[in-house]
Amino acid sequence: MTETQFTPRVFSGIQPSGNLHLGNYLGALKRFVDMQKPDIETIYCMVDLHAITVWQDPKELAHSTRELCAGFIAAGLDPEKSILFNQSQVPEHAQLAWIFNCVARMGWMQRMTQWKDKAGKNQQNASLGLFAYPSLMAADILTYHATHVPVGDDQKQHLELTRDIAIKFNHDYGVDFFPITEPVIEGAATRVMSLRDGSKKMSKSDPSDMSRINMTDDADTIAKKIRKAKTDPEALPSELDGLDERPEARNLVNIYAALSDQTAEQVLVEMGGKQFGEFKPMLAELAVSKLAPISSEMAHLMGEQAEIDRILAKGAEKARAVAAPILQQTYEIVGMVGAKQG
Ligand code: AMP
Ligand code: TRP
Repeated sequence: MTETQFTPRVFSGIQPSGNLHLGNYLGALKRFVDMQKPDIETIYCMVDLHAITVWQDPKELAHSTRELCAGFIAAGLDPEKSILFNQSQVPEHAQLAWIFNCVARMGWMQRMTQWKDKAGKNQQNASLGLFAYPSLMAADILTYHATHVPVGDDQKQHLELTRDIAIKFNHDYGVDFFPITEPVIEGAATRVMSLRDGSKKMSKSDPSDMSRINMTDDADTIAKKIRKAKTDPEALPSELDGLDERPEARNLVNIYAALSDQTAEQVLVEMGGKQFGEFKPMLAELAVSKLAPISSEMAHLMGEQAEIDRILAKGAEKARAVAAPILQQTYEIVGMVGAKQG
């Protein structure tokens, strides 16, 4: 299949499960904004169907969906330039996911590290939805024939599975219908680590709030969390290999680099030799200058719920216009009677 058969189109999603944090921002959201350009269609989704694969309180789910939408817009996504919507409002995602449930193999799903991590030792009691999660994710992407998917490093395996599903579907039905999607995992902070433990990913589910910077944190809280971040007693090196075996130092350098749109190498040229006592306040100042305007804009937008709901509804309508014909053609390929349009 030639890559050129498909018009370039960007799709990505974030779960509305609360605590949007710096890892989500640098690994995903900021990249979404960078990819919002006039010559490419960008579609960004609040994946509420994915969120309920683990229990969500209904009121909190609704709140988190609106808050995530506010975060998207506050970070720089423009509803006139990108399609912004929540997944449940475009039924084609769930419909295509069913087809993919019949394409994907049990063994593929069992290998997923996110499944193993989230289900833990008690797989028998995990929801069936959590197991089938990657198949819905493949449907999110492929119901738009998306060619590029910006995500953090932890989603790489899911995107490989999306490619496997597209390849198997195309092969089984003898078509060149679904694109083989490219993951876009780039920038200095594809994996932001916990501020308390450089071996653990920054995560919304970490019990310690000090481990992460939330997008709703105010300037004082951001500065305090960086001041208290775990480090080591050495000064910063001036070259990258000086960060080997220093996960906490590496993490703060990567955060600095991503926030200032530089590479880690560039940051070290400037910062090499500085102690953390000097570097941390600089990082705190940079973080506050980039994040505080986003959090205050989020708070402002959360005061305008009707406007958020209107943006989501309009986005869902635009998304459906792209997704519905692709689902329709899929049904035809599969042999579902009555699928012809019009
Ligand atoms: P989630 O909140 O799990 O829906 O993740 C949304 C996006 O944020 C995905 O693209 C993730 O890869 C990305 N992400 C989540 N945590 C991190 C992290 N600690 N570092 C970098 N990217 C992350
Ligand atoms: N699984 C992703 C995460 O937890 C969220 C997601 C769902 C997604 N559907 C997607 C990301 C489609 C990219 C494309 O981070």
